[in-house]
Amino acid sequence: MGHARQLGGRGRGVGSTLLRVSTPGPAGAAPDGSPVPAVPAAQPAGRALRAGSGAALVVGASSAIGAAIAQGLAARGHHVHLWGRDPDRLARAAHEVAAGAAAGAAVSSDVVDVRDRRAVAEAAQRCPEPLRVLVYAAGVFDWADAVDADADRWEEVLDVTGVPAAQTTRTLLPHLLRGAPSTAVLIGSGAAVTAYPHNAAYVAAKHLLAGLAGSLGAELRGRGVRVSLVNPGMVAAGASLDSPVGRRSPGSLLQAQDVADVVLQVVSAPARVWVSRVDLQPTADPSA
Ligand SMILES: NC(=O)c1ccc[n+]([C@@H]2O[C@H](COP(=O)([O-])OP(=O)(O)OC[C@H]3O[C@@H](n4cnc5c(N)ncnc54)[C@H](OP(=O)(O)O)[C@@H]3O)[C@@H](O)[C@H]2O)c1
Repeated sequence: MGHARQLGGRGRGVGSTLLRVSTPGPAGAAPDGSPVPAVPAAQPAGRALRAGSGAALVVGASSAIGAAIAQGLAARGHHVHLWGRDPDRLARAAHEVAAGAAAGAAVSSDVVDVRDRRAVAEAAQRCPEPLRVLVYAAGVFDWADAVDADADRWEEVLDVTGVPAAQTTRTLLPHLLRGAPSTAVLIGSGAAVTAYPHNAAYVAAKHLLAGLAGSLGAELRGRGVRVSLVNPGMVAAGASLDSPVGRRSPGSLLQAQDVADVVLQVVSAPARVWVSRVDLQPTADPSA
């Protein structure tokens, strides 16, 4: 990886990778050999972040939605720290985010399986501070009649989308309190507030996020930590691209950038404002 260096040197998949950002460098290649955008060149260690910007952690940053959010946060000068499970997909996302980061901002990443609570706790210790923003965007989708549903798939949907959102947020609360004023954004879904049929595990997991965001938000609002739930409808990303409307007219769906724009508005609202929940839908009716 062109300008990246391993911190800790404990092998592939363990420890974090740091890209320091200043002027553009040469184009590189992802670990799988595919081309990636030009990677910003290394800057002298110790250069200060833009005053007040602090760090932002995006969990599930290798998804199109997570990467777009990370790009927006990096462009605002945050030190953006990316978590994902797949090392190659995460490295590609980190390079893309670094390419668009503000001068002086840093981009780093850590391979973390959110189902592994110990790994989450260890990775939290490597998270840059002060932590001003946490975005939980990891999720696994399933669309199946409950009676036919695959037990392993249900377990994965519940184990990635639901419980780790709670445990990861809980683990990082001391960091968010130290970084206050700070904001945690949970990427929900229309399924966080509507019980669609044929989608039970995903609906249940996303409803968990709604309860989590509401309860934590009420508990922490007076302590400088805002907790927000952002509920996109169908986005031209992930599993929605395999849906009939996603195959037919992806341009009619929300775009990953639309979700990122809303998240940026939520985190940049004045400190006196707590945006507790945002629902966004494409203006086109996906069922039409
Ligand atoms: N697409 C939509 O229409 C839509 C609509 C509303 C809400 N959302 C939500 O938006 C988020 C991103 O979705 P997407 O559609 O862009 O999906 P996606 O491309 O499938 O991305 C899923 C993300 O979750 C991560 N992830 C999966 N299992 C993980 C694990 N065990 N540990 C750590 N990370 C894990 C993936 O990382 P790896 O690639 O490294 O596995 C990836 O970053 C999800 O929360 C989803 O529910 C999506």
